[in-house]
Amino acid sequence: MLNSSAPAASRVFSLALVACIGCSEQAEQPKAGQATALPRDEHSYAQPAEARVTHISLDLTPDFSAKRISGTARLAVERGQNADSVILDARDLAIRRVTDTRGGALGFTTGATRELMGAPLAIALPAQGDTIVIEYETSPGAAAVQWLEPAQTSGKRLPFLFTQGQAILTRTWIPTQDGPGLRQTYDAAIHVPAGMRAVMSAVHAGTEGEKDSAGRAVYRFRMDKPIPPYLIALAVGDIAFKAIGTNTGVYGEPAVVERAASEFVEVDKMIAAAVKLYGPYRWGRYDILVLPPSFPFGGMENPALTFATPTILAGDRSLVSLVVHELAHSWSGNLVTNATWDDFWLNEGFTTYIETRIMEQLRGKAYADMLRQLGRQDMQKAVTEAGGPQAADTRLRLDLKGRDPDEGVTDIAYEKGAAFLQTVESVTGRGRLDAFLRGYFDQFAFQPMTSDRMVAYMKEKLLTGAESERIGLQAWIYEPGIPANIPPVQSERFIAVNRQEEAWKGGGPASGLQTNQWSTQEWLHFLRALPDSISATRLAELDRVHRLSSSGNSEILFAWLQIAVRNRYEPAFVPLERFLTSHGRRKFLAPLYTDLAKTEWGRTMAMDIYRRARPTYHSVATTTIDQILKWKPAAGG
Ligand code: BES
Ligand code: ZN
Repeated sequence: MLNSSAPAASRVFSLALVACIGCSEQAEQPKAGQATALPRDEHSYAQPAEARVTHISLDLTPDFSAKRISGTARLAVERGQNADSVILDARDLAIRRVTDTRGGALGFTTGATRELMGAPLAIALPAQGDTIVIEYETSPGAAAVQWLEPAQTSGKRLPFLFTQGQAILTRTWIPTQDGPGLRQTYDAAIHVPAGMRAVMSAVHAGTEGEKDSAGRAVYRFRMDKPIPPYLIALAVGDIAFKAIGTNTGVYGEPAVVERAASEFVEVDKMIAAAVKLYGPYRWGRYDILVLPPSFPFGGMENPALTFATPTILAGDRSLVSLVVHELAHSWSGNLVTNATWDDFWLNEGFTTYIETRIMEQLRGKAYADMLRQLGRQDMQKAVTEAGGPQAADTRLRLDLKGRDPDEGVTDIAYEKGAAFLQTVESVTGRGRLDAFLRGYFDQFAFQPMTSDRMVAYMKEKLLTGAESERIGLQAWIYEPGIPANIPPVQSERFIAVNRQEEAWKGGGPASGLQTNQWSTQEWLHFLRALPDSISATRLAELDRVHRLSSSGNSEILFAWLQIAVRNRYEPAFVPLERFLTSHGRRKFLAPLYTDLAKTEWGRTMAMDIYRRARPTYHSVATTTIDQILKWKPAAGG
C-alpha cells in the first residue's frame, strides 16, 4: 500500500517541487560533458536537473510466504544548485523510514498516484552528505515481480521469483529515478533462504557460502557501469549454473541447465562475431538465465545476464537468434540507450538489424535472408494492426505521452527500425555503415540517445547531403508508413518453399511436401503463407503427415495454432489449451487470445482457459490480455 507520511521535521522541506510535477520545461542532465538537453521523460516524475540518483545500494530480503521484498535502498544523490530535495518514482511501495547515513530522519512526501506511473516520492536531502537511506517493502502485487509457487517450477520443490523492469516497472520494487535516460550504478546484498540462489544483472561480488545472522544465504553483486534502472534485475530460486566458455554460461533450474548449455553452445562465437562488427563487449561476463515458463518475454537484455524463456529450447539450436538479439543489446540499448520510450526504436530497431548481421556471420546469408524476410512480414502486419500506413503509431519516433510505453512495443520499432538501417546500408555500403556504428557505440557509450541526436550524428559522420536526401531520413524516422525506397528482401529458400506450397494448395498431397531439410524459418514461412480459410480435411492431412499439433518447436506450434483457431480446427484444441496454460510468453499468448476473442465459441473458450491460466501469468502478460478479453478481475471474469 502507498504510504504518505508527513515529513519528520529534520529540515524545512519544499513542497513546491511536488507541485511542479508534470510541468513541461526541458530537463537538463546536470552532468558535465552532457551538454545536450534531453527531452522530458513523460514516464518519470524525476527532476534530474534538481537532483539525480547516481548510485543505488540495495540490501534486500524476499519473503516468499508474504510475497514481499523488504530492506533498504541507499541512494547516492548528485544535487543541482540549491536543491533541497530529490524526486523518485515509486509505485505500490510501502516506505517505512527515510534517514541520512547516521540514522537522522529525513522528511518525505508521496504525491498523487497515477495508473502505471505510480507516484512521485519527494525526499528532503540531508544537510550533510549526499546519501539517503530508504527503508521499504514491496507489495505482493508489485508489477515487476513474479512470485512462483513450487508447482510452477520444473523442480516443484522450491518457490521462485524474478523481476522484469522494462519499461517502467523497476519503480515497483526499487524506489529510484526510473527513466531510461537516468543512468545509475548499483550494488546489492540479497538474503535468500538456505538452498536457494540469487542472480542479478551484475557481477558477483560476494564470497561463496556467506550467511547472515538469521541463517539466510547472502549473495552480493556489483554493477559499476551506469545503467538505466530498467536493466536492474533479480531472480531467486533453485538455480544451478553450467559454464559454456570462460566468460559465458547458463543459469537455470537444475532440470534445464544441461539442455540450455547445449542449445546455446555457440554463445562464444556470437560474442566474437558481435565484437568484430561493433567493438568491445564492455560488460565482463555474458551469462543466460533460463527462467521458468511464465517469463513474459522471449528474452530480456539484462546486462551480463540475459533473461530467457525456456520456449526457445527447441533442441536443435533453431531459435538461438533470440539470444543473439539480447546479446546485441549489449551495444544497442544497454550501451547507447533510448533517452525516453518515444525513441524505443533506437534500442530495438538497431538491435534487430545487428541480430541478423550476427546471424549472417554464424549461419550464412541464406539463413539471415530468411530472418529478414520474416521480419518484413512482421513489419507489414504491424502497419496493418496500427491502422494502416497513415497511422501515427507507424512512425519510428513515437509520441507516448499519457500512454503505457508498452504500446510502443510493436514490430514498427523492431522491423521498420531494422529496415531503416538496411536502407542506409543500401546507400552507404556495409563497410561505411559498420565503421559508423562502431564509432557511434564508442562515442555515446553509457549515454542516452534521441532520434534527433542520432540523425545529427549520422549526418555529421556518415552521410553526404545527397545521401541523406536519397535515404529520406526525415520520412523514415518522423513520418508514418513505409518509405518506397526500402530495399527488397528475397530469400532464395523461401522461393523453393513457395513452389511447394503452390502444389499443396493446388490439391497436391501433404506427403508431397519435401520438408526434411526445412528449417524452423521455412516452416514459419510456409504456415504464414497458407490461405486464411482451409478445410478441416486438409488441415488434418497436414497435421497427420507433419505432426504440427505436437511440434516441440514453440514458434512452429504457435504459427500452427493460429491457423487452427482461425479455422476452428478442433483436433488442435487440446494442444492449444496446453500451450496457453503451460507458459506465459506474451508474444504467443496475446495473438491467440485476440483471435479466439473474435468469435463467440472462441471467446467462451478463451475466457475459460484464461480464468485458470491468469494466476500463472506475469503482470506484463495479464495487463495486455485483460484488455484483449475485457477481463474484469474483480468480477472474476
Ligand atoms: N527488450 C526486449 C523486451 C521488452 C521490450 C521488454 C519492451 C519490455 C518492454 C527484448 O530485447 C526483446 O525484444 N525480446 C523479444 C525477442 C526478440 C528476438 C524480438 C521477445 O521477448 O519476444
Ligand atoms: Zn530487444
